[in-house]
Amino acid sequence: MQVFHQIKSVREALQQAKNEGKKVGFVPTMGNLHNAHLALVKTAQNYADIVVCSIFVNRLQFGLNEDWDKYPRTLENDIQKLKSVGCHILFCPEEQEIYPNGMDAQTRVIVPSMADVLCGASRPGHFEGVTTVVSKLFHIVQPNIAVFGLKDFQQLAIIRRMTEDLCIPVEVIAGDIVREDDGLAMSSRNTFITAKERPKANQLHLSLKWVCEQINQGEKDFQLLENEAKAQISAAGFRPDYFNVCNSKTLAPAANDDKYITVLGAMYTQGARLIDNISLEL
Ligand code: PAJ
Repeated sequence: MQVFHQIKSVREALQQAKNEGKKVGFVPTMGNLHNAHLALVKTAQNYADIVVCSIFVNRLQFGLNEDWDKYPRTLENDIQKLKSVGCHILFCPEEQEIYPNGMDAQTRVIVPSMADVLCGASRPGHFEGVTTVVSKLFHIVQPNIAVFGLKDFQQLAIIRRMTEDLCIPVEVIAGDIVREDDGLAMSSRNTFITAKERPKANQLHLSLKWVCEQINQGEKDFQLLENEAKAQISAAGFRPDYFNVCNSKTLAPAANDDKYITVLGAMYTQGARLIDNISLEL
């Protein structure tokens, strides 16, 4: 695997592959890689000849009180894991390389309709940071396809919308959610869950499953289900952030006759904020 820290050098390496007619797949990450990230690399391999992974802990998408400084950085381990699944290129730039004019002066990309709800409501500016860095990474790598995980359903929907709105010639592909045995969605932030909290940390997943079962059995009062799910999460000792039954494409509150529904939730443990979702076709 080739490792690049500079835009110029990763572009040169990719240019050569593109001249040879090779198709490029891209998996952007913030590192601390686990099996879900590696599954995205494998998915990209099914669509492309050359797979590029990026690792960049993007400060622009973290709020002032969030965990940018303590976000786990495990580059050496990450490199070994990427090698083990046959990733071809790793791009891991320094902040100066991505934001040479500083973050305040950085041109931004905003997807207004979807960025202020759900996770965006409790993390103002978060998705603006995501779309800005992902569009920069897309311009650097210029992949044919890019793979994003369904665990971050809102992020995926926003990135799809950004590529559509800005006519970016990248095909966005969704990777399934990878879970621990008890249903907890894998996340770099799971390392912040305390040992005492961990046995119940799958409550978000359990409540999502419960709500989906109710909807499948014909329950149409979504607000009632949302409130009950939040009560379940509180009863398990966690603080719910949001729990919403949404239209899968627009992320607006689901209407009774919607065919594609996604139930999304977020909750706080002592050390981490966890998110998860399940999609349904009615
Ligand atoms: P990060 O949290 O490192 O996630 C990188 C990719 O892995 C994202 O597409 C995310 O959805 C996916 N992923 C993480 N855990 C997953 C799981 N359990 N199942 C399936 N996919 C999972 O998301 C980001 O980084 C950043 O916002 C980024 C897009 C890189 C922009 O900075």
